[in-house]
Amino acid sequence: MSLLDDPQRIAEVDRADMRRLLRAFPEQLRRAWDLTAQASIEPLEFDGVAVCGMGGSAIGGDLLRSYLQPKLNKPIQVVRDYELPPFVDGGWLVFAVSYSGNTEETLSCAREALSRGCSLVAVTSGGRLKALAQEHNTPLIEVPGEMPPRTALAFLFVPLLRTLLLALDDEARKAAEREWQEALEQTQERAALYDGKPEAENPAKRLARALFERIPAIYGGALTEAVARRWKTQINENAKQPAHWDALPELHHNEIVGWEWPSALKGRFVYVLLRDPDEHPRVQKRFHITRELLEERGLPVFEVQGQGEGRLARLLTLVQLGDWASFYLAILNGVDPTPVALIDAMKRRLSR
Ligand code: PA5
Repeated sequence: MSLLDDPQRIAEVDRADMRRLLRAFPEQLRRAWDLTAQASIEPLEFDGVAVCGMGGSAIGGDLLRSYLQPKLNKPIQVVRDYELPPFVDGGWLVFAVSYSGNTEETLSCAREALSRGCSLVAVTSGGRLKALAQEHNTPLIEVPGEMPPRTALAFLFVPLLRTLLLALDDEARKAAEREWQEALEQTQERAALYDGKPEAENPAKRLARALFERIPAIYGGALTEAVARRWKTQINENAKQPAHWDALPELHHNEIVGWEWPSALKGRFVYVLLRDPDEHPRVQKRFHITRELLEERGLPVFEVQGQGEGRLARLLTLVQLGDWASFYLAILNGVDPTPVALIDAMKRRLSR
C-alpha cells in the first residue's frame, strides 16, 4: 500500500493533525463569512485598499487582489513591510491582518494607518493587534485562535472579501455572491476527494509524488499568480522544502534563461503550471510555449487548473490542491507539517 493511503502512517507523521484543518477548509469558509457579518462593518467609501500582513496572514490579500481587482475601480495594495506607501492617506481603507496579532511589521503599519487617519479594520485572533483595535475603537474581526496561521486562510481572506463586496454595485455584488456559493460547493467536493481517495485517483497525492525530492518551480498567470506564491510557501512551511514561484508573462523576460544552466541542477527541478481558462490569449500561447520549451529540455512539467465555473471557485480550489499536495509531500518527507521551528526561532531572536 502507498504510504499516502495509510491513515495510520499519515497520523504518525502528522502529529498535530493538520489533516483535520485541511478537511475543514470549506466549513471555515462558511464560518468566516458569518463571522464577518457579525462584525457589522458598514458599507464603506474609500480611495484605495491596503492589506497589511506577513506570511500566512498576507496571502489572503494577494488572493483578494487577484479575484476582486478586476471588479473594483479602486486600487488594492498588499503591504508586506513596516511602512505604508506614501500614497496611502486618510481616504484609504487599511486591513491589518495578523493571525497572532503580534507580528511587528503589521502592528507598525496599523499604527501608521491610525496616525494617517485611514479607516482601519483589524483581522486577528488576539494579541496586540486586538488590543490596539479596542483601544482606538476601530472595527475588529476576531477569528478563532489555536491554528497555524496558514491553515486559517479562510478566516484571513473571507473577511476582506465580504467587506469589499459591500463596495460593489448591486449587480456585481449579486454575481460575486453566486460565485461564493459555487466556491463553497466546489471546495467541499475537493476536500472529500483530496482527503479520501487513494493515490491512483487523487490529484493531490499524485502531485506530491511528482514534487518529492525535487525543487518545485510554480508558475502562475494573472488569476493564479497569488496561488503560485501560496503553493511555494505551503511547500516551504508544510514540507520543509525549498520551492520557487514566478508568473507569466514576466518570467519570459528573465526566469526562462535559467532553465539552461548549470547542468548539474537540471534533474533537480519540477515545473508546475497553474492554468486558468480566463488567461489573456497571449498568455495562453505563452503557457503553451513554456511547456514545449521545458519538455524539449527534458524537464518534468505538470499543468493543473482550479475547478468550477466562477473565478472564485477556481481560485480557492487551486489553493486547496496546493495545500493538500504540500501536506502529502510533508508525509513523504517524514516531517510533521505543522511546526515551523525556524520562523519561531527568528521571531524569538528578534524580540531579544
Ligand atoms: O505561516 C506562518 O506561521 C507565518 O507565515 C505567519 O503567518 C507570519 O509569520 C505572520 O504571523 P501572523 O500570521 O501571526 O501575523
